[in-house]
Amino acid sequence: MDKLIITGNKNLKGCINIHGSKNSALPIIVSSLLSNENLVLSNVPNVDDINNMITLLRGYRVKINKNNKSIIINSKNVKNISADYDIVRKMRASILILGPLLSRFGYSKISLPGGCAIGTRPIDIHLKGLSKLGVKFEIENGFVIAKTANNLSGNKIKLPFPSVGATENILMASVLAKGETVIQNAAKEPEISDLGNCLISMGSKIEGLGTNTIHIQGVTQLNKASHKVIPDRIVAGTFIILAVMLNNKLEIKNVITEHLESLTQVLKKMGANLTIFKRSILVSPSKKLKSHNVVTSPYPGFPTDLQAQLMSLMCIVNGTSQIKETVFENRFMHVPELNRLGANITLNKDKAFIEGNQTFKGAQVMASDLRASVSLVLAALCAEGDTIVNRVYHLDRGYEKIEVYLRELGAKIKREKF
Ligand code: EPZ
Repeated sequence: MDKLIITGNKNLKGCINIHGSKNSALPIIVSSLLSNENLVLSNVPNVDDINNMITLLRGYRVKINKNNKSIIINSKNVKNISADYDIVRKMRASILILGPLLSRFGYSKISLPGGCAIGTRPIDIHLKGLSKLGVKFEIENGFVIAKTANNLSGNKIKLPFPSVGATENILMASVLAKGETVIQNAAKEPEISDLGNCLISMGSKIEGLGTNTIHIQGVTQLNKASHKVIPDRIVAGTFIILAVMLNNKLEIKNVITEHLESLTQVLKKMGANLTIFKRSILVSPSKKLKSHNVVTSPYPGFPTDLQAQLMSLMCIVNGTSQIKETVFENRFMHVPELNRLGANITLNKDKAFIEGNQTFKGAQVMASDLRASVSLVLAALCAEGDTIVNRVYHLDRGYEKIEVYLRELGAKIKREKF
């Protein structure tokens, strides 16, 4: 397992181009299962989760040609095998193939995704929503066996929680269903709108993307299409927080800044010096940074995927901050590791209390999940001395070659392959 060796306190400068969104590209790649025609995607991030999804779909005989950041997908000869635990275990987004396979074959057998470091990650909202479209489910030996007697038929579905994955699964299942489907209390994340816009370019009839009520009129088939994946707002937010932590001048390019409003508002309240353009954000040194209290929530609230990164910043500003995590039940795995780096964070149920004015000091730390890992890298880049971050495979799931990007900005960081 690779590790990163980081020497902290180096000034970074320059600009960074943000790659395509992993959490947008994943459902969009899966949506190709709905069509017999080519789906051509550009700006697809070169990260492990994407490569795992491509492997999974190739196992279903989906034809996928990948050329750096563009891929051409054709599902004409797809075979309905069952997705095995090993791949599903590594990547929870595998559950997104359920809706499209049911829509296409009326049957799907997929391993139940296990939990992960940040929570049990149930799929009850997915299953309840799909059953409203006429799907019957059995759970057997750790597999979900899903069947529909006839074609899926549209229905009104009210989600108990605006689950991103469940909204995506139901949205994809409904585009070829008979009649109209209405998804109420739908998730409003930009990744949902990106998936919906791609489905519309394939010939789907969808209204209400980006709102909490999405209307879908079923169609009989989809056509060939091409689509450019939106930039990754979480990767962009990660680098913006890093620039604020190091008090360096950094330009974060190729972002959709409206997707980052909840973060930039918090950072401005903390005293960060941000200049916000339509497609880029300039971070400049600021005088004094101060503490703040944040509650994570579904979009457009403060994203849970930036919670760990913001916590690293809160360790070094003036005063005590508080973070309340409301989306996942166990998303504080980075806390003991940040404390090993010199932070002073205490937890009480879903709240973290972060003492400011701490100085990070290099140490050996362990990555536990994708965003927790990157919060350790941010802290290490500000630390005195060297830090070793183990189990870097967590990072590679969602960040393209992070050590290369950081070295180009002036960081002293290297990867040791194991
Ligand atoms: C997506 O996960 C993202 N993953 C996550 O990003 C992100 O943190 C999350 O949305 C929230 O924004 C991808 O898009 C691949 P949810 P998802 O369904 O769809 C509970 C990252 O770091 N829930 O909105 O799994 C669930 O347990 C990853 O890139 C149910 O109870 O998130 C959680 O507490 C991490 N039953 C909450 O809802 C269900 O059927 C939010 O989950 C589904 C979810």
